[in-house]
Amino acid sequence: MTSLLEVKNLEVSFRNGKDVFTGVSDVTFHVNKGEILCIVGESGSGKSITTLSVMGLLGKNGAVENGSILFDGVELFGKSEKELDNIRGSKIAMIFQDALTSLNPVFTIGNQMLEAILSHSKLSKKEAEEKAKYLLGKVGLSDTEALLKKYPHTLSGGMRQRVMIAMALAGEPKLLIADEPTTALDVTIQAQIMELLKDLNKELDMSVILITHDMGVVAEMADRVLVMYAGEVVEEAPVNVLFHSPGHPYTKALLRSIPGAGKEEEIKLVPIEGTVPEDYDRIEGCRFLNRCTFAEKDCALFQDFRQNGEEEQFIRCWKYDKL
Ligand SMILES: Nc1ncnc2c1ncn2[C@@H]1O[C@H](COP(=O)(O)OP(=O)(O)O)[C@@H](O)[C@H]1O
Ligand SMILES: [Mg+2]
Repeated sequence: MTSLLEVKNLEVSFRNGKDVFTGVSDVTFHVNKGEILCIVGESGSGKSITTLSVMGLLGKNGAVENGSILFDGVELFGKSEKELDNIRGSKIAMIFQDALTSLNPVFTIGNQMLEAILSHSKLSKKEAEEKAKYLLGKVGLSDTEALLKKYPHTLSGGMRQRVMIAMALAGEPKLLIADEPTTALDVTIQAQIMELLKDLNKELDMSVILITHDMGVVAEMADRVLVMYAGEVVEEAPVNVLFHSPGHPYTKALLRSIPGAGKEEEIKLVPIEGTVPEDYDRIEGCRFLNRCTFAEKDCALFQDFRQNGEEEQFIRCWKYDKL
């Protein structure tokens, strides 16, 4: 399999006056063509920062300090904004949690769909309208003619998220990044949107990065999984390996805290005590140390991201094979 996206040793910092906060460091991962990579971890782990840096959407106070972001064979790190716009262009699209704030309330769905389509192509208005209806149909919406005339607030949350996905598809992206796309939706609608993302991934051979804090979603959706904690990747593995032989104590803890995730027998759910540490960039050793039930002295030393033998599994814990 060939990779579409290869991120190596990514380091991102935010500046606030004299204060510098390194939001993620030493983040290395890849996304193969046509696969779904899930990024999982508690809130504040650096999941969004990681994908926002790929998109070049870190905002004014954020910057990629180090590393390499290779997309479709082209290095994005160090390029100017204009060059980046051209390279990314339509090739990477992103959808977010809150479709209502991402859609403009004063324009109809039709206005916004046409703008998305025309910014990526030289179609006539008539052709763009046809394409808009086609894309809305593709994401499972019906009565598309009438839908084009509606305003965002008149649609349900699930429908709005489908419209956002349709707009994201306008440029025929090779990679779709979905950052907790269903967090604001109820469980039934959430399942439908996930199903849709999976269908589109298969049908369009479009790679997907799906950010979630839900291990149940990971089990359903992922080909491979990246587990993030406090600004670092602590584990990377194919989904079946992750669920059957998790290596990092944090991954184990995440799996124990989720109902039914990969477990046949009825087991007691154990929430992870404590929270992600603030100022985690100051921690030299394992960042999970103070919450880890296996912690000992050497965990205070720097932790390498090591491959587990010949497995396609990488773990940032010196004692994972002794646990
Ligand atoms: N623009 C920013 N300025 C300063 N700190 C930020 C900024 N964006 C995110 N952070 C911090 O970086 C850490 C990781 O954030 P984020 O990637 O949003 O986590 P996640 O998506 O995993 O919940 C958090 O501690 C967050 O407060
Ligand atoms: Mg986030």
